[in-house]
Amino acid sequence: MAACALAGATLLGAGTSALAKGKGVAPVITDNVEFAARQMQLMVDTTDTFKNIPSPRTTDKNGRLAYTTLDDWTSGFFPGSLWYLYELTGDSKWLKPAVHYTEGMERIKYYRGNHDIGFMIFCSFGNGLRLTGKESYKDVIVTAAKTLSERYRPGAGVIQSWPQWRGWDCPVIIDNMMNLELLFEATQMSGDSSFWKIAVSHADQTMQHHYRPDMSCYHVVDYDSRTGEVRSRVTAQGYADSSAWARGQAWGLYGYTLCYRYTRDPKYLKQAEDIAKFIFTNKNLPEDLVPYWDYDVPNIEQEPRDASAAAITASALYELSTYVGKKEAKQYKKLADRIVRTLGSPAYRAESGKNGYFVLMHSTGNKPGPAEVDVPLVYADYYFLEALKRKRDLEAK
Ligand code: GLY
Repeated sequence: MAACALAGATLLGAGTSALAKGKGVAPVITDNVEFAARQMQLMVDTTDTFKNIPSPRTTDKNGRLAYTTLDDWTSGFFPGSLWYLYELTGDSKWLKPAVHYTEGMERIKYYRGNHDIGFMIFCSFGNGLRLTGKESYKDVIVTAAKTLSERYRPGAGVIQSWPQWRGWDCPVIIDNMMNLELLFEATQMSGDSSFWKIAVSHADQTMQHHYRPDMSCYHVVDYDSRTGEVRSRVTAQGYADSSAWARGQAWGLYGYTLCYRYTRDPKYLKQAEDIAKFIFTNKNLPEDLVPYWDYDVPNIEQEPRDASAAAITASALYELSTYVGKKEAKQYKKLADRIVRTLGSPAYRAESGKNGYFVLMHSTGNKPGPAEVDVPLVYADYYFLEALKRKRDLEAK
């Protein structure tokens, strides 16, 4: 999601390509953005033929673009990617689809099915607000924050992620750290500090109860909603309750980095750095830095990778590199650069016009499901574009 404070109403130039004209933009950025623009133009052309607003998510068993509904947790990533393309290319042709697919999901500000409203609304309206300054987007964001706040359980100090399935009382998944950005921003926009307080409480409880001594995390922690007592620690998408599900580690790294962005509380920075250490010293992290879907799955070399976890990690590391000393900054940036280079290589980047018009191949959504194993996923592309934007911004300084 957006790395810097709201930029105000900076509309980009009509029909120009800031990327192509930009001096000193690394070829790895130019090449990947131009490729993404070609793929996404095909995706927009296909998606525009529908009367309703479908939401590109992955591919079907025939390798064709597959859609989901706006109530799905992934619905903000397609409009979010369009905003990043608009920003990265400077080409005004991306503004119309970005606005169309963002505004088409406004009703999601009232979505109460689970905690995912932060992903849905902030990737779409958050980026839209940052790039256009449209006042009406602020209202959507603040309303969505109010909706999310209804899931806060004061007795446990956390935002409940999912309904009370499987005998759970108040299940919280590590992914929920990503929704805190919506809350921090909503306080900054509205002056209502209740959102901020909820975000801080949730981050603190998660730090205390989701993390193991080696700084890997559980996927799901179920709390007693009245007392805050932990009832169980399990997995839903990982290999085992005690294992380290790859995308969960990436969500945690990104989540604590964003908590530091807003609060400047050093404990969040330390948490993010400790998580990065877990990831990059893990004996099961492959040389190309794209993890298998779980760090602890047996016979790991036969298991699928998760390019989405790598893309989220790269994006988080670029931001993290701005908060630390020179030596660490260089290390984090170098790791993020390596991931970006790998993801942009033929091993992970699709061929033009293929892969359901997604950019990246080889992500894993939910192996135990089983669902979406070794496929393109819309959020892998979103965080890859975000990583390219963050790299470009860092290198322009
Ligand atoms: N937030 C859902 C997932 O990472 O699969």
